[in-house]
Amino acid sequence: MKARLHSHTDLGGFGVAETTTNSTATDAPAPSRRDFIHIAAGAAGAVGAAMVVWPFIDQMNPAADTLSFASIEVDLSSVAEGQQIQTLWRGKPMFIRHRTADEIARAEADDKAPDLKDPATDDSRLLQSNGQPGKREFLILLASCTHLGCVPTFAAGDYGGWFCPCHGSHYDTSGRIRKGPAPKNLVVAPYVYLSDTTIKIG
Ligand code: FES
Repeated sequence: MKARLHSHTDLGGFGVAETTTNSTATDAPAPSRRDFIHIAAGAAGAVGAAMVVWPFIDQMNPAADTLSFASIEVDLSSVAEGQQIQTLWRGKPMFIRHRTADEIARAEADDKAPDLKDPATDDSRLLQSNGQPGKREFLILLASCTHLGCVPTFAAGDYGGWFCPCHGSHYDTSGRIRKGPAPKNLVVAPYVYLSDTTIKIG
């Protein structure tokens, strides 16, 4: 942001040129038409340079909100059993679902189902990014259908999990794709437990 201020300060040169022009009313000959054209051209050049330099400098600095959401912490104690919350991580929507005992049982029972398009056990989808097992109750997923990126709805579809209404993809209670055009399971986000009830995503 300082770079932007410096660029505007450079434009003060335009003010200096105007002052010089005024002072000539008593001490020096008035600027000719050619002088005026030179002054105007110089000022326009300063504006042009500022406008070119500022975007380059700005692009080199990551946006503040990008940095602040590189990782987020979530208090799981605020998510009741049977509920899910939606949050944003690095600009992407996330599902944090507190599964019921029935949802967990259904997910585990289907670990070897023949219609899994992207086979994975429920346990493998709970792993933390440090390789440690997660909790069976909590699924941490990107809320983005693996077909074309719509946000699926929970408790819809044929498998008790998520359903994407855009083109009809059905995900089970582990977020695994079971039916429809989506090719892959809902993506598990990288996360670790910081305490019994707090996770860090990212
Ligand atoms: S985007 Fe979800 S089914 Fe097409």
